[in-house]
Amino acid sequence: MIVLGLETSCDETAAAVVNTDGKVLAHAVLSQIEEHAAFGGIVPEVAARAHLAHLDRLIAKAMQDAGIGFAGLAAVGATAGPGLIGGVLVGVMSAKAISAVHKIPFVAVNHLEGHALTARLTNKVEFPFLLLLVSGGHCQLLAVEGVGRYRRLGTTVDDAAGEAFDKVAKMIGLGYPGGPAIERAALKGDPARFAFTRPMKGKPGCDFSFSGLKTSVRVAAEALPPGSLSEKDVNDLAASFQAATVESIGDRVRRALETFAESYGGRTLVVSGGVAANTALRAELQSRARVAGFEFVAPPLALCTDNAIMIAWAALERLQLGLVDNLDFKARPRWPLDPTAPPARGAGVKA
Ligand code: KG4
Ligand code: ZN
Repeated sequence: MIVLGLETSCDETAAAVVNTDGKVLAHAVLSQIEEHAAFGGIVPEVAARAHLAHLDRLIAKAMQDAGIGFAGLAAVGATAGPGLIGGVLVGVMSAKAISAVHKIPFVAVNHLEGHALTARLTNKVEFPFLLLLVSGGHCQLLAVEGVGRYRRLGTTVDDAAGEAFDKVAKMIGLGYPGGPAIERAALKGDPARFAFTRPMKGKPGCDFSFSGLKTSVRVAAEALPPGSLSEKDVNDLAASFQAATVESIGDRVRRALETFAESYGGRTLVVSGGVAANTALRAELQSRARVAGFEFVAPPLALCTDNAIMIAWAALERLQLGLVDNLDFKARPRWPLDPTAPPARGAGVKA
């Protein structure tokens, strides 16, 4: 079976064609980084218009590269949430139109389920497994029990990890997106110069928090001699912030590994989301997994960040279980994978 997947929930417009064996027949991604860089962050209206302008062309290209017609598809899947609703609607409406015209099933995919199931496409990971999802919009630890079956072990009570990287980068004069810029600066900096507290470290549960750390960086930067920060100051702030973030995430993951090991048979830790690109974080996760006797799986970076391959694959997994959706399915700005988990407290928490 072959499925077309569409992704438009944030700042990547993407279309991909994948088959049941996990073979990627075509994929096309268009990043809007340049459109948003001038604003220092993603502007929802700008994102929605860009998706509208480019999605048709990306779909046509993906279908051409895959060498099939719409009639050859077993289904069409699109991210139906959570995300910036204007963009989500563009993908959902396109998928519904293809479904209606070509009489093929429509699958409404939860973007987070796309991230969650990627490791099954790339590494054939079996259920259950522990997932750390760390991106610009999300920061969660989930026990993945099966398709559509998740237990949230922890989430952020304020910012997502990538959001903290982006905000701190902006604060110390590094560009957008901030994660890669902080990582580069941190390589040249002294992680011990600023003794930032490690948020949530040692606290019960597996929740995250980055807002206090962000404030600590601002206070430290403001305490430096007035005028612009020197290159050394920027590098040291970046290195000290990154060290605190990585150690904080490491502590939360350690607790989740313990909880997961007590409740489930699986022994695999999977990471996904753009922050998974961070080498220091990967090393921390690798070592936490090793200590706990877990295998560590990090899909290739292009599949950790937003893409349509993961959406096509999640649609395929759902289709194989008969989980297809009606054309009256409503796009959802919020769509938690574990609806039984209590809502996260902070502002800006997306799911
Ligand atoms: O998954 P993603 O491409 O988009 C969503 O947010 O869904 O993740 C983007 C986030 C941004 O916040 C970016 O700053 C962060 O991932 N990021 C990184 C690195 N590369 C990207 N954060 C830390 N270190 C990196 N090397
Ligand atoms: Zn994402």
